[in-house]
Amino acid sequence: MNRSVELQTFVDVIRHAFETSSANSAARRLVYRIFNGLENPAGRINPPPRQLPVCEHLAPALDHAREQGGVAATLANALDAISPQLVWARRPISPNDDSTFQANHANTVVVGDDGLELRDDVWIGITLLAPDTRYPDHRHPPEEIYAVLSPGEWKQNTGPWHSPGFGGVVHNPPNILHAMRSTAMPLLAIWCLWTGEPEER
Ligand SMILES: [Fe+2]
Repeated sequence: MNRSVELQTFVDVIRHAFETSSANSAARRLVYRIFNGLENPAGRINPPPRQLPVCEHLAPALDHAREQGGVAATLANALDAISPQLVWARRPISPNDDSTFQANHANTVVVGDDGLELRDDVWIGITLLAPDTRYPDHRHPPEEIYAVLSPGEWKQNTGPWHSPGFGGVVHNPPNILHAMRSTAMPLLAIWCLWTGEPEER
């Protein structure tokens, strides 16, 4: 199986962003598992692309990331190159959604279940939030790492909100309660989850 040049570049620049970040050793082990797995491309599908109204915030968010230069600009260019293929969707309604959340967010899966590349060991996706939107607290067994492409705030458990900044990294250990929210600017972030075999300890 081959990846498109655009998708391979997207994978490569995310790996580079994580490997050159200040991520701690646990996050680095996760990065290794994810991108080691991705060295074997899986099957491709070409689902019909889909946009949602909130996607009007994508182009300005990408422009803002490009203006930063460095890692953020590289990630923005790679994301932009695959953007015509993306299938944006809302996550299922959950009881702790606030009244504006459904209209003000979109997720897309790039690699993984229902992604452009179908596989069950790694998920890579993208979240876009309109300004002043909170993504509800959630938790999931797979360990997760984000590459941040915009202003915005993240939190874990009852900890304080913090701003990773353009090109910043957030590592969520398995099952930790976590959330994110945009500021007056849209929030744009790439998330990567390891859904394969757990790490041997
Ligand atoms: Fe998450």
